[in-house]
Amino acid sequence: MSTQKKILITGGAGFIGSHVVRLFINKYPNYQIYNLDVLTYAGNLENLKDIENAPNYHFIKADIVDEKAMLDLFAEHKFDSVIHLAAESHVDRSIEDPLAFVRTNVIGTVNLLNAFRDTWKGNFEGKLFYHISTDEVYGTLGATGLFEETTSYDPNSPYSASKASSDHFVRAYGETYGMPYVVTNCSNNYGQNQFPEKLIPLFIHNIKNNKPLPVYGDGKYTRDWLYVVDHARAIDTVFHDGKNGETYNIGGFNEWQNIELIRVLIKQMDEKLGRPEGESEKLITYVTDRPGHDRRYAIDANKIKNELGWEPSVTFEQGLSITIDWYLANEEWLNNVTSGDYQKYYDGMYAER
Ligand code: NAD
Ligand code: TYD
Repeated sequence: MSTQKKILITGGAGFIGSHVVRLFINKYPNYQIYNLDVLTYAGNLENLKDIENAPNYHFIKADIVDEKAMLDLFAEHKFDSVIHLAAESHVDRSIEDPLAFVRTNVIGTVNLLNAFRDTWKGNFEGKLFYHISTDEVYGTLGATGLFEETTSYDPNSPYSASKASSDHFVRAYGETYGMPYVVTNCSNNYGQNQFPEKLIPLFIHNIKNNKPLPVYGDGKYTRDWLYVVDHARAIDTVFHDGKNGETYNIGGFNEWQNIELIRVLIKQMDEKLGRPEGESEKLITYVTDRPGHDRRYAIDANKIKNELGWEPSVTFEQGLSITIDWYLANEEWLNNVTSGDYQKYYDGMYAER
């Protein structure tokens, strides 16, 4: 039986956070899990319907940008661990409104660090601040090479600059106040419950509805893709076995050029929708590129594999198939999140491209 813990998971109503909350609730009945989320457009409690009545689950609606609220919550609950995922997470939105990213990703993170520091006052035995970050902090790669844990930070978008800043603050609090921490930098995730502004769910939605697929630039941008449940498994591994003060890169050993990935997606979707093979390729529409678009991300995930024994559990084709099936079976979820402000966002983002 695992020991008792009181864990604050921030951003637990979002895409990755909801998978982390579910895994911890089901796997560790002895842990009390507090999901703190302000429920932005990306946060959705529907994502956690299956576990919302679990005795070890607690939801707190709060904004990490609110300094006093964070201090009060920590004073009341004395969380011994934090798994921090709450963030503004979409690069295109960061180009439109960088300050929103500074507020949540930088100031919000520092508010949590301060609340954690002030709660434990140097008495950090058995405590942990686990910060979830992205490979985008490393900037862009040329045709070869991989991001290592030692690669210099070189962020190019307001999103990645804000995440890089928050990573630096976490490390600085470790050095300055002796706060135990780990940071993980993960590649692009895909899977159930991802908001349809990111490439894969957006394109699933558009293929289904016979809408144009807006491919930025020449479509030859490269990303490494990881199934979200495998990211949640990696977070579980690092939370329990990661070494204090270390960084671990997490990735799928799975690089794809966007256009090649889109062709695989179309092939699987046409098959599942009963369309002739390749029918939806006609939806591919090249549009104006994203400014500052990073050419290639690729992760060397051998440190977490060799030191902690984690590796992905599904192939890309398997993960993609599960993901498509989920979106096709959960039309109501998709309709709920694409009603209201979504259409305004979509028209604003894609009209002028
Ligand atoms: P998401 O946008 O789906 O979810 C973010 C969640 O944070 C939402 O539930 C939102 O309501 C909440 N939130 C936002 N601002 C908040 C605030 N001020 N106070 C409290 N809650 C707030 O994001 P995601 O894709 O699940 O990403 C989660 C984390 O993982 C982020 O830190 C992101 O940088 C990181 N990450 C994401 C990916 C990816 O491919 N999606 C890859 C690597 C790392
Ligand atoms: P995205 O899912 O936004 O993740 P990130 O920018 O964090 O990597 O985009 C993944 C890739 O797909 C990226 O190269 C941008 C590209 N892309 C498009 O070509 N069209 C789109 O409509 C979107 C959302 C992304």
